[in-house]
Amino acid sequence: MSDSNDKPNASDPAAPAAPAAPATAMTDDAPVSGAALPGSRASQSLWSSRTAFVLAATGSAVGLGNIWSFPYLAGEHGGGAFVMVYLVCVLLIGLPIMMAEIMLGRAGRGSPVHAMAAMARLHNKQSAWQFVGVMGVITAFIILAFYSVVAGWMLAYAVRMVGGVFEGQLADGVSGIAGRLTDDPERMLAWHTIFMVMTAAVIARGVEHGLERFIRWFMPLLFVLLLGLVIYATTTDGFLKAVNWLLLEPDFSQLTTGSVLAAMGQAFFSLSLGMGAIMMYGAYLPRDTNIPGAAATITVADTLVAILAGLAVFPIVFANGMEPAQGTTLVLQTLPLAFGSMEGGTFIGTLFFALLSIAAWTSAVSLIEPVVAWMVESGRFTRVSATTLASAVIWFLGAMVVLTMAEPDFQFSFEFAGNTESSGLFSVFEVATYKILLPLGGLLIAVFAAWVLSSDAVRKELGLSDNLFFLWRSLAGLLAPLAVLIILLGGLNAF
Ligand code: PHE
Repeated sequence: MSDSNDKPNASDPAAPAAPAAPATAMTDDAPVSGAALPGSRASQSLWSSRTAFVLAATGSAVGLGNIWSFPYLAGEHGGGAFVMVYLVCVLLIGLPIMMAEIMLGRAGRGSPVHAMAAMARLHNKQSAWQFVGVMGVITAFIILAFYSVVAGWMLAYAVRMVGGVFEGQLADGVSGIAGRLTDDPERMLAWHTIFMVMTAAVIARGVEHGLERFIRWFMPLLFVLLLGLVIYATTTDGFLKAVNWLLLEPDFSQLTTGSVLAAMGQAFFSLSLGMGAIMMYGAYLPRDTNIPGAAATITVADTLVAILAGLAVFPIVFANGMEPAQGTTLVLQTLPLAFGSMEGGTFIGTLFFALLSIAAWTSAVSLIEPVVAWMVESGRFTRVSATTLASAVIWFLGAMVVLTMAEPDFQFSFEFAGNTESSGLFSVFEVATYKILLPLGGLLIAVFAAWVLSSDAVRKELGLSDNLFFLWRSLAGLLAPLAVLIILLGGLNAF
C-alpha cells in the first residue's frame, strides 16, 4: 500500500476535512505495520495540511494553562526555581510524550480509546491498554468542568474592559472587581454556561470546520499583544525585579516536592498531554507529516507564550507592591492594572481578554473532541447527541465547581502535597488532573509507545534515525516514566 496516492480531502484547502463528516475511505492510510486495521475508522478524514495540524494542536496547547495557570503557579511556588523545573519537564518529558501521542493517534486513527486498542491489537498486545484512553476521557470531563469556569472569567473581563471599568484604578480597586466576580455564583454560572454553549457549538459541527482559518489569524494576534504587554512591562519599575525573580535568579531553596509536582503537572497541562487531546488531533494527520518537527514547533510556541505571560504579569506585581502568590485570580488582579493605566488600554484590554477567551475556546474544543469522537465511534450516538450529552454533564460538574467555590455553605478546603487547597471542588478537580491523572496518563502512553509496541514500527512511524530513536526511547521509555513516578509518589508523600 502506498501513502502517496489519493488522499481525500487532505489536499483540498477549499473543503477542510471535518472529522464530523467522514470522507471517503482512506484505504491508503494504514497503521504502523502497513496492514489494514481491524475495526479501524477507515472513513477518517484529515487536516488539509501539516500547518493545519500544527495550528490546531497549538490552539489546543495555548490557552488558560499558559496565561492563567503558569503565572499563578509560578507565583505560588516561588518563581525561578519552579520555572526551571517546568522547562526541564517540557523538554525532557513533554516533548517525547507529545511525539508518542501524535504517533499513536496517526497510526491508530481514531479516538484515543480506539487508537490505543487498535495499536495494541495490531501488535498482538492486550487490548486492556484502551483503558488509558478511557482514563483520558474521564480526565477531559474533569478538566473542562473547571476550565470552563475560568474561561468564563475571561469572557466576563472582555466585557468589563469594553465598559472601561478599570481606567485609573489602583490595585485595591482592581482586586475588588475580581472579587465581585469570583464571589458571585450566579455571574460565574452564567459565564460558564455561555462558554460551554460556545464550545459545544463548535464540537457539534466538527472540529476542523473553520477552526483552522480562525486559529491562523487569532494566534499571531494574541502573540503580538502579549509581546506588546511585555514591552509595556519594561517601562514599569518592576521589570528587572520580575526578570530576575522569574528567570535569572532561581532560588532552589524554595523548591519542595509539592512544587516539583506542580511544575511537572503544569507541563502536561500546558502541552495538552496525558489525556489524548494531541493523540486525537494526530488521528487526523496526513501520513507524510514529520512528527518530531511538528511536536517541536508546538512545544516551543506553547512555552514561549507561557514565558511571555509571566514577563507581562510579574512586573505589574512588583511595580505595585503586590504579592506574587495571589492564587488563581493573579491574572485578573494584575493585567487590568496595566490596561487601566496605559494609553488606549480599554481597547487593548478588551482585545486581550477576547483573544484569551478564544485561546481557551480552542483548547476546550480539543478537550471534548476525544470524548465525542469515542461516543460517535460506539455507533450509539450522532455527533450532535454525543456533544449535547457530554456538554450537559460537564456543565453540571462546572456548576458544582462554582457552587463550592462561591457559596459559603458549600465551601471547603483541604491539604494536598504540602499545599492548602481552598477553592472547593475547583481545587479537587485541579489537583486530580494536574497532579495525578495527566502525569499518570502520560506515563502510560510513554511506556506503551516505547516498550509495548514493536520498536521498529514505532521508529519508522516517528521517522527517526537510529540514533535519534535511541534518544527518544531513552527519554520516553526511561527518563520520563521514572521521573513521573518518582515525582508523583514523592508529591503524594508515598515515601
Ligand atoms: N493546554 C491547554 C491550556 O494550556 C489545556 C488543555 C489541557 C487542553 C489538556 C487539552 C488537554 O490551556
